[in-house]
Amino acid sequence: MDRDGDKCGAEQQPQRQLWPFCVTWIMDVVLKGIDPSTSRAVLVGCAAILLSLHLYRWLRQRRGSGPPGPFPWPLIGNAAQLGKAPHLYFSRMAKKYGNVFQIKLGNRTVVVLNGDSIKQALVKQGPDFAGRPDFASFQYVSSGNSLAFGTSTDFWKEQRRVAHSSVRMFSTGNPLTKKTFECHVLTEVREVLKLFVAKTETHRFFQPMNYMVVSIANTMSAVCFGKRYSYEDEEFRQVIGRNDQFTQTVGAGSIVDVMPWLQYFPNPIKNMFNNFIKLNLEFTTFIHDKVLEHRKSIQSSTIRDVTDALILALEKFTDKTQSSMKKESDYVTAAIGDIFGASQDTLSTAMQWIVLVLVNYPELQLRLQQEVDRVVDRSRMPSIEDQSQVPYVMAFIYEVMRYTSFVPLTIPHSTTNDTSIMGYTIPKNTVVFINQWSVNHDPGIWSNPETFDPERFLDQNGELNKDLTGNVLIFSLGKRRCIGEELSKLHLFLFTSMLVHLCYISPDPSRPPDMGYTYGLTMKPNGYYIAVTPRDDIGFDIARCCYK
Ligand code: HEM
Repeated sequence: MDRDGDKCGAEQQPQRQLWPFCVTWIMDVVLKGIDPSTSRAVLVGCAAILLSLHLYRWLRQRRGSGPPGPFPWPLIGNAAQLGKAPHLYFSRMAKKYGNVFQIKLGNRTVVVLNGDSIKQALVKQGPDFAGRPDFASFQYVSSGNSLAFGTSTDFWKEQRRVAHSSVRMFSTGNPLTKKTFECHVLTEVREVLKLFVAKTETHRFFQPMNYMVVSIANTMSAVCFGKRYSYEDEEFRQVIGRNDQFTQTVGAGSIVDVMPWLQYFPNPIKNMFNNFIKLNLEFTTFIHDKVLEHRKSIQSSTIRDVTDALILALEKFTDKTQSSMKKESDYVTAAIGDIFGASQDTLSTAMQWIVLVLVNYPELQLRLQQEVDRVVDRSRMPSIEDQSQVPYVMAFIYEVMRYTSFVPLTIPHSTTNDTSIMGYTIPKNTVVFINQWSVNHDPGIWSNPETFDPERFLDQNGELNKDLTGNVLIFSLGKRRCIGEELSKLHLFLFTSMLVHLCYISPDPSRPPDMGYTYGLTMKPNGYYIAVTPRDDIGFDIARCCYK
């Protein structure tokens, strides 16, 4: 199914290139009537400069065994060419230079990996590509102790292992934990849908985006801290309301990270960066307070939530290694901050895209309803056990992830050793961008990749084709692969099936939503207006669950 203007990011914004400005300037000088011999000299001079630049670039690429790439301008490198959708620029450059190419951002050389080079680097040469760059912005996340933004060390490996097993212990680890997690999700989805219906009754059409952030933040707060908040809680709303600025700053290609000198004199980028430092500090303080509260009441015999699990596990580890590292509580705060931060931002973005696609494709909404109705009668809510019987729901979710590729690039990586890939030499500590979008829109893997079509994931028996779903790249691969993948898929399944089970969603005809977005580590859809009406009078209380 293909619609005009629905190509998620397929049309590129005009690029801010320097070359046209040069030409305009020269033409200005010529047209203003300087004498013909001078203008001839200017033109010959310019032609000579351009020729030398091209020669220099050609020689540079032939001499070194590094990857090829577009010509970098002094001081800014290729930063001005990235435009508002760097993943699309990278995919165009991959067509020109191949799946491995390099650019300059400010003073940093960045190797960009696309298509099949990604699996080669992250899986087959995993340890070489598992580092994180020493970017200025990364040092302010969780006071520099972040597991997601810190580079790979022995302690990081342990911190990651413990974080992963703690998340599983309170979500997808076994049938019992899955049921508890399901309970949290059902409760929060029910709350947010009730709110949507109430908003529709009062305002007719409303913007649902922020409510979805609070909804998933509450689910993850139950998992991480054993607590949920009211939608009116001001502190909670403030803490979680800053995702956009966070992801725009740490997204691959953020300006301060590659032009650190911008921090040292007054300018708008410096202001943005200072705000970023402030919001990280506030977020860390919020999480640290939760860790301190847990410490006061923790009992090793009853692990209540992910925070308890992390405190106990990391304490054991630091005792065992008798390490001289900072207090282990800093690492607990960092790990829980990463889990809470990463999950609510990514999952709320996924929910926002799901709702937007459903609004834009009412026929898919109907198809999903029919499938869920076939398996789940009107006396109960969808549950984990239904998942294997509703392959179209899962196909729809995979297609949303593939088509929107809402995490277009991973968190930037860096090389931990001198290494090579696809015949190109890459020195240690080189920044590496992983273009996930390029895999999800590769015409060699997907027929008509720019068409939204969940059917592509179903085989001839209508079952989910696991080989194909395995080709969707949004949780990354290898040593840095997302630790929340299983939890996320389960959450998105429950959210989508509950949504279509209980409600109809429709767009505001006077403000039809588009598929535009703002670029960042997660790409957020542009604001949109919807109405949500209950499908029938079964009521939302059949979703009542574990919360008293
Ligand atoms: C749809 C939802 C999600 C998507 C698309 C997603 C995607 C990603 C991606 C692309 C990365 C970077 C991998 C790399 O740099 O190569 C990542 C890292 C990470 N994610 Fe997720 N994520 C999601 C949900 C979650 C959830 C629910 C959690 C927590 C339970 C989580 C926790 C993390 C952590 C801790 C890392 C850092 C891993 C590391 O650096 O070793 N994510 N995620």
